[in-house]
Amino acid sequence: MLLEPFSFSGLSLKNRIVRSATYEKRADEDGHVTDFLIGLYNDLARGGSGLIITGNALVHPSGRSIPRMLSIHSDIYIEGLRMLTDAVHGEGGIIAVQLVHGGRQCPLVLLGGARPLAPSEVPDTSSGITPKAMTDAEIWEVIDAFGEAAGRAQAAGFDAVELHGAHGFLISGFLSPHTNRRDDYWGGDEERRFHFVEEVSKAARKAVGKEYPVLIKMNADDLLPSGIKPEEGLRAALRLEASGIDAVEISGGMRESAVKTIRPDILKPEEEAYFRDSGRLFKGRLRIPVILTGGMRSMAVMEDALKKGEADLIGLSRPLIREPELPELMKGGKEKADCISCNGCTAFAELDHVRCTQV
Ligand SMILES: Cc1cc2nc3c(=O)[nH]c(=O)nc-3n(C[C@H](O)[C@H](O)[C@H](O)COP(=O)(O)O)c2cc1C
Repeated sequence: MLLEPFSFSGLSLKNRIVRSATYEKRADEDGHVTDFLIGLYNDLARGGSGLIITGNALVHPSGRSIPRMLSIHSDIYIEGLRMLTDAVHGEGGIIAVQLVHGGRQCPLVLLGGARPLAPSEVPDTSSGITPKAMTDAEIWEVIDAFGEAAGRAQAAGFDAVELHGAHGFLISGFLSPHTNRRDDYWGGDEERRFHFVEEVSKAARKAVGKEYPVLIKMNADDLLPSGIKPEEGLRAALRLEASGIDAVEISGGMRESAVKTIRPDILKPEEEAYFRDSGRLFKGRLRIPVILTGGMRSMAVMEDALKKGEADLIGLSRPLIREPELPELMKGGKEKADCISCNGCTAFAELDHVRCTQV
């Protein structure tokens, strides 16, 4: 099944492998596309993934979470982004851009000393920073920014957008009872915590029209005692489906979680596919495609997840850092990715750009 075509929302993927969004540290200091970044996407497109999702791209300057990330918060970025999409399309690839606001997980140094924005002033135990609770005006400004960024993505030739609603960044921060302690339209109970992502997806939909695919990556589980749990995550996904989202990518964890989003040392089949229980739960109830990401390494496990109804599509990040050509290699009979999940690629501060440190 893995290497067979899959279609949804007007996208015809040549196989069910998705390059999950992976920050590259290859944009320039202002977030413009570089030749170096295009080189990576050429490799990924030639490598044969059915759908390629870019590293997270910044929708508003107040949400910068990491240096040299892609930006899409102004029209000045469209020309460079167009070169990126042309390169991928030239190799027969399909590409989506991931849209992000970093919320409370933005470091002060990238915000010129301003406090990061969040639903509520809940201190981040991983950084020691207490974010600023957003005003109504700030919330609407960021919602509009997501909409405008989606419109730019379409203008730049991306085949789809993915909203980054996972990992404790702003959208995830509003969904999570751990970080959203408001008592107003934006929080107070599950329904009100959903309003921010609902308005963001409406703004994106309004900008791109009815037919254009809008995906979301979200936490099935924040992996925190006071965080979102799979049943609540599923109810949010069902609401998003009803409001016209085209596909859901499942992930989990935020920076404060002890069990991580990017788990190390996945060496045995039973350690792979570490969000598969959530995949089963979500896929059992949703009609839109479910992308399952997290720890998939061997073709047998990927096939098993597809056959057991835990996913429609398989998201890969670290394996494609090491082997961008992995889908083509699997076509030729390769059974397992070379990635050993050492997480050397996540040493963002030390690395000049994101790369596999084993080769
Ligand atoms: C270097 C690196 C950068 C990442 N950047 C992003 C990102 O920009 N957006 C995102 O949603 N997830 C990001 N992730 C998380 C991955 O998309 C994925 O959810 C996680 O690594 C688990 O999948 P894997 O086991 O296939 O690596 C990143 C992961 C790595 C290793």
